[in-house]
Amino acid sequence: MATQHLGKKTACVVGGSGFVASWLVKLLLEKGYAVNTTVRDPDNQKKISRLVALQGLGDLKIFGADLTDEGAFDSPIAGCDLVFHIATPVHFASEDPENDMIKPAIQGVQNVLKACVRAKTVKRVILTSSAAAVTINTLEGPGLVMDESNWTDVEFLSTAKPPTWGYPASKTLAEKAAWKFAEENNIDLITVIPSLMGGPALTPDVPSCLGLAMAPITGNEFLINAMKGMQMLSGSLSITHVEDVCRAHILLAEKESASGRYLCSAVNTSVPELAKLLNKRYPEYKVSTDFGDFPSKAKLTISSEKLIKEGFSFKYGIEDIYDQIVDYFKAKGLLQK
Ligand SMILES: NC(=O)c1ccc[n+]([C@@H]2O[C@H](COP(=O)([O-])OP(=O)(O)OC[C@H]3O[C@@H](n4cnc5c(N)ncnc54)[C@H](OP(=O)(O)O)[C@@H]3O)[C@@H](O)[C@H]2O)c1
Repeated sequence: MATQHLGKKTACVVGGSGFVASWLVKLLLEKGYAVNTTVRDPDNQKKISRLVALQGLGDLKIFGADLTDEGAFDSPIAGCDLVFHIATPVHFASEDPENDMIKPAIQGVQNVLKACVRAKTVKRVILTSSAAAVTINTLEGPGLVMDESNWTDVEFLSTAKPPTWGYPASKTLAEKAAWKFAEENNIDLITVIPSLMGGPALTPDVPSCLGLAMAPITGNEFLINAMKGMQMLSGSLSITHVEDVCRAHILLAEKESASGRYLCSAVNTSVPELAKLLNKRYPEYKVSTDFGDFPSKAKLTISSEKLIKEGFSFKYGIEDIYDQIVDYFKAKGLLQK
């Protein structure tokens, strides 16, 4: 049965316990939306603690739903005007990406979209994709510019199997499955395609993307190598503030004329360029700028022109993003004050 939120627009946020989704829930409540959100385990008090706190901001209902459970999204989506599908399985170290990431991501998209069809009230679905579904290819740079017409080369990923290949493959195949289902079932779908996100987290645990973004400052060798690997595989190190990504989700959900895919990336850089900037801005952390012969220029840049043409402007640049993550890490006791 549809949940009753009288007189308000209702949005469902799939995966409310995550880094991005918890920000989106907050912004939607602040805008006066009634929100239904789903989490895998509503009895996990630690995971839902921030969502429970957000209930103080407005009308927020929490439902249990797993992406692989077909009927699970019917109750949270019933009666909703908008659906934001944010959740995705993330297991970077998986030895079985097919079963750990690719299959559940595609199943999740299909299960959420089937529930939208059954609900008959949903006017638009906004799916969070990833720049990893756009920029991975065998083209030569530098100087390439990637826009919404580009798709990651899944055949290259599944043949060459570079480290963490399952994540970009799952994001690409899940987004493609969403477009196919939407076309066949006449669903108004928009995909938002962010780069690596920064900014403070509302979640109880520190999101893995923030650990990665902070690697040059914390000096974590494993994560610095992961960041270099990201630049080599994705073609650039591109970063956006999580709040900007959520603002883009809401703008595109509300703007009737919006359609298709939208890249959302505030800053295009490379690991050596970023390290130089951080070294200068935070001399106290002695950020290493020695990268030997590692490419100092990224192979490509990501264009957010389509999003900007819709009237969007990025609120945060690279300095703001890092100032806020540094403060967040200090508050968490992960960096010296
Ligand atoms: N963070 C970034 O830098 C970044 C960059 C580009 C794109 N994105 C995209 O943004 C979205 C959100 O990412 P995030 O950083 O917020 O990730 P996150 O914090 O790891 O959140 C992922 C969410 O997915 C949920 N989930 C995973 N497997 C599930 C399943 N089988 N059933 C139901 N829920 C499941 C998790 O629920 P549990 O809490 O129960 O585990 C969690 O809420 C994803 O689509 C991601 O691909 C993220």
